[in-house]
Amino acid sequence: MLVTNKDLLVPARRKGYAVGAFNINNLETVLAVAEAATEEKSPAIIAVTPSAIKYAGLPYLSKIVKTGAESSSVPMSLHLDHGDTFELCKSCIESGFSSVMIDGSSKSYEDNIKLTRQVVEYARQYDVTVEGELGVLAGIEDEVQSEHSHYTDPAQVEDFVKRTGVDSLAISIGTSHGAFKFKVKPGEEVPPLRFDILEECERRIPGFPIVLHGASSVLTDYIDMINKFGGKMENAVGVPAGQLRKAAKSAVCKINIDSDGRLVMTAVIRKVFAEKPGEFDPRKYLGPAREELIRMYADKNQNVLGSAGRV
Ligand code: G3H
Ligand code: 13P
Ligand code: ZN
Repeated sequence: MLVTNKDLLVPARRKGYAVGAFNINNLETVLAVAEAATEEKSPAIIAVTPSAIKYAGLPYLSKIVKTGAESSSVPMSLHLDHGDTFELCKSCIESGFSSVMIDGSSKSYEDNIKLTRQVVEYARQYDVTVEGELGVLAGIEDEVQSEHSHYTDPAQVEDFVKRTGVDSLAISIGTSHGAFKFKVKPGEEVPPLRFDILEECERRIPGFPIVLHGASSVLTDYIDMINKFGGKMENAVGVPAGQLRKAAKSAVCKINIDSDGRLVMTAVIRKVFAEKPGEFDPRKYLGPAREELIRMYADKNQNVLGSAGRV
């Protein structure tokens, strides 16, 4: 059933788990998110970026995701991820999204507040919930690419939440988007996330839902598979599962995962093509990719997010 992010995040925040926001781009990924959530009796968020909308077109994509959420027996929300303009948020709300993120993090503090407030005021009329962002993650945030991250300044969070009226807040504590999150030498541990900043934010906005972006673990099994079957992804590193589990038990109650899904799809499709070079039926490579995606998402719900068995 289709619900808002707020419906999912308030209980998650209270009970100490996180809901996965999984990025989708096509039918296979939507089906995989919905099936894994159903199997694991887990809430889930279907996340759609502006570039996913550009790729598939809003009329198609909104119908596919709406069908996925509405026909599912577990609560799911339909969320615009990294919305970059008021107009896009409005179009997604008109198309039936139950939640939108307005990402004003690349703007000045005051401009971020102004834009976010404008979206909140519009969304309220339709019972749609809104996520804002403070602080900048390195990597690709849709069309906006940032080379350097700026940690969230905890001194701003209370004022931002009050003045914008957002329902949840994405913060920057050392994660980044994509499959190359940290520069580490082989065998070296990745630097820990800034849990001190998270705790300070939590202290300033007690009980408020906090969101972690850039939270793929960049699972080595799939990187190895990609490299074994003709790919070339060297030095790909993500956030260790242990750190995500720690975050999920804290004020972080929404965790965004995109790259891990991309890696699964790529790895399985490469394997099929390497082992069966004559295969040309898309269902014969997209099908196994979807099955593996379901396994990976189910594992996230169970062992990383703690959202399995919550519905
Ligand atoms: O933050 C979201 C992404 O991982 C970037 O996704 O390529 O669909 O914009 P995108
Ligand atoms: P990853 O690139 O770590 O999967 O991050 C995804 C994300 O934050 C989507 O908003
Ligand atoms: Zn993100």
